[in-house]
This record gives sequence, C-alpha cells and structure tokens, in this order.
Amino acid sequence: MGVFTTSHEQVVFCHDRQSGLRAIIAVYSTALGPALGGTRFYPYASEEDALHDVLELSRGMAYKNALAGLDLGGGKAVIWGDPDKDKSEPLLRAYGRFVQSLGGRYYTACDVGTYVQDMDVVAKETRFVTGRSESHGGAGDSSVLTAYGVFQGMRAAAEHRWGSPTLAGRRVGIAGLGKVGKHLTKHLLDDGASVVATDVSARALDWASSTYPQVDLVDSSDELIRQQLDVYAPCALGGALDDETVPLLTAKIVAGAANNQLAHPGVEKLLADRDVLYAPDYVVNSGGVIQVADEIEGFNFARAKERAGRIYDTTKQILQLATAEGVPPAVAADRLAERRMAEVGRLRTILV
Ligand SMILES: NC(=O)c1ccc[n+]([C@@H]2O[C@H](COP(=O)([O-])OP(=O)(O)OC[C@H]3O[C@@H](n4cnc5c(N)ncnc54)[C@H](O)[C@@H]3O)[C@@H](O)[C@H]2O)c1
Repeated sequence: MGVFTTSHEQVVFCHDRQSGLRAIIAVYSTALGPALGGTRFYPYASEEDALHDVLELSRGMAYKNALAGLDLGGGKAVIWGDPDKDKSEPLLRAYGRFVQSLGGRYYTACDVGTYVQDMDVVAKETRFVTGRSESHGGAGDSSVLTAYGVFQGMRAAAEHRWGSPTLAGRRVGIAGLGKVGKHLTKHLLDDGASVVATDVSARALDWASSTYPQVDLVDSSDELIRQQLDVYAPCALGGALDDETVPLLTAKIVAGAANNQLAHPGVEKLLADRDVLYAPDYVVNSGGVIQVADEIEGFNFARAKERAGRIYDTTKQILQLATAEGVPPAVAADRLAERRMAEVGRLRTILV
C-alpha cells in the first residue's frame, strides 16, 4: 500500500540515531479535535509492517474516538523495536520531543509494549501525553473503564436481543482473564450472570479459581465457544471471529474487549447470517480511551465513568440503526462514526 493512497492527514517518520528511536506517528483525522491514540512498541519485521500497522490503527482510533463522543480525532504511533531490549529513557524522551513538535495535533497514550511509567517519561518532553500514572496526574489503569464499558455495551445488546438490559440468568463465556477480563467477570457476577472462562496463563486461571470459585474454567477458546453460551466475550487477542469460529458459536451475542475481533472483512456478514448479534469491538471497548482522554481536562474518575456509561446508549443506537438499515452492526457503527466526523467536523468551516 502506498502512503498516499490512504486518507491520512499526516504521517511523520521520527529518527534519533543515538537513542535508536525509530517511530512513525500517523494522524488519520483531526476533524473532531487533536488526534489521540496510543504508542505501540513492537519489533516489526520491517518498516513497511510498522507503517501498515500505524496507518490501520490510527484510522481505527478516529472511528473509536468519534463514537466515544470525544472531541478528539484519531491518531496512533509505533516505535519500531523490542520494548524489552530497546526501551530507554533517552529513546522515550526523544520520542516525546517528536510528539511535542506536532504542537498538539497528536496526543499519545499507552498501547501494546508501553506502560504508564513510560508515559511519565514521555511527559518530561511533551504536554501532549495521556495514560500517565496516577501520581503524575494520570488516569492510571485504563482497563477499569474498558471493562465497565464492555459491560454496558453487553447490557445494551442483551436489551436489543432479549428485551431487558441485564445479563442476569445468562451464561457468558470470557476468553482472556487479563486486566479487562478480570474486571468484567466481577461486573457480570454482580449482575447475576454465570461465567465460564479460559486463559492461556496458569496465573490467570489460578486467580480465577481462588477469587471466584463459581466461575467455570475450560482449557481453550475453542472449547469455550462450543459451550452452551448466551454471550461470548473475546477479551484476549484480535481475530477471535473468523471462518472457523463463527460457525461454531452457540452464543447469540458477541461483546468483548479485544480489538479487531473480526479476522477479515466479511466476518460481520457471517455473524449476521447466523443471527449472532455483534456489538462492535471498537464501540464497546472505548472505555479505556475515554478514561485516558479525561486526563486532558485534569483527570476526574466520576466524570470519566459517567462518559463510559454512555457506551450503553451508543451501542443501543448502533444496533437499532443496523436493524433499520438492514446492515450488520459493524457497518452501522462505521456509518455513525463517519456521520459524526463529517457533521461535527464541518462546523469548523464556520469562521468564529
Ligand atoms: N486494557 C485496556 O484498557 C483495553 C482497551 C481497549 C481494548 N483492549 C483490548 O482488550 C484485550 C484485553 O486487554 P487487557 O488489557 O486485559 O490485556 P491483558 O494482556 O491484561 O490480558 C489478555 C489476557 O488474554 C490471555 N490470552 C492470550 N492469548 C489467549 C488465548 N489464545 N486464549 C485465551 N486467553 C489468552 C492472556 O494470558 C492475558 O491473561 C486486548 O485485545 C486489548 O487490546 C484493552
């Protein structure tokens, strides 16, 4: 893919030879405000792979931020390297200076391979950073509101499917008992659902059996989706829904935290054909970005939680639009996001 065949506003290559920094910052859209999206630190096989990832991810953030109701555009950054070997104070600070050089067109945050402590270091060089530690005025662990938002999206899907916004009496399968999966388990149990879960990590499974002995555990995601489930919640890696898994689903709803759950375009149609209601991933998992975005105003947990609670209304609106327009929910979500970017973004043409 050539860079200029995409619709991105700006793509910046950043290089600092001494610290070894090689980063790409992609701004997809600032129609709604400064672009916000995390920094992925990953040992890509090639610069082309890194570029491809950052272009895709920044586009995804524009859609996510638009539907999260944020006055923020979409952007993302990748640092090409092995976070375990290459991460250093000079490298992170060099990166921070490049973020600063964009003058606020792009706000960064954590992503795969970067953590709140790293954002504290980046923040020494730039004001345009979120996802810092609580002791530095940051929002802390974003999985708290990610899980809360997924639960709200799941409630909206339950209402759309079964007429009542609750998971009480339903059986929910969670794949991935990581930071988000753990919080989600609690929301579901508190709501009266029964939970069956899996994880590849023995530590996560030990946590589940000691903390919530009522949660049933199975050996793999394959086994999980074959269980008799009402809801399937992918909370591990992307690509959980593909040509092999969708035909096996017993669940009537899919709503989970993982990014990019649909393995390829067309899977949303497979789900619809099987009458599985899919709550789009980037809508229901936007609680995390809502949490870190709140830092820009000076972090207030109650305000951020209230905003994440609106994921319930947005999910409902998308599912209703999908029904009305006869399209899968993933398509309805994209349409709604594009509408907000166009309608609200257009207002800037009014000179004030
Ligand atoms: N943390 C957030 O705020 C946030 C926000 C939006 C989206 N997400 C997405 O949600 C997902 C979970 O995030 P997290 O922060 O809980 O990550 P995490 O790394 O804490 O947890 C992921 C868990 O999945 C498990 N896992 C990995 N492969 C698995 C497999 N094949 N089968 C079963 N379990 C497997 C891991 O052992 C781990 O326990 C990720 O896809 C992430 O990108 C997270």
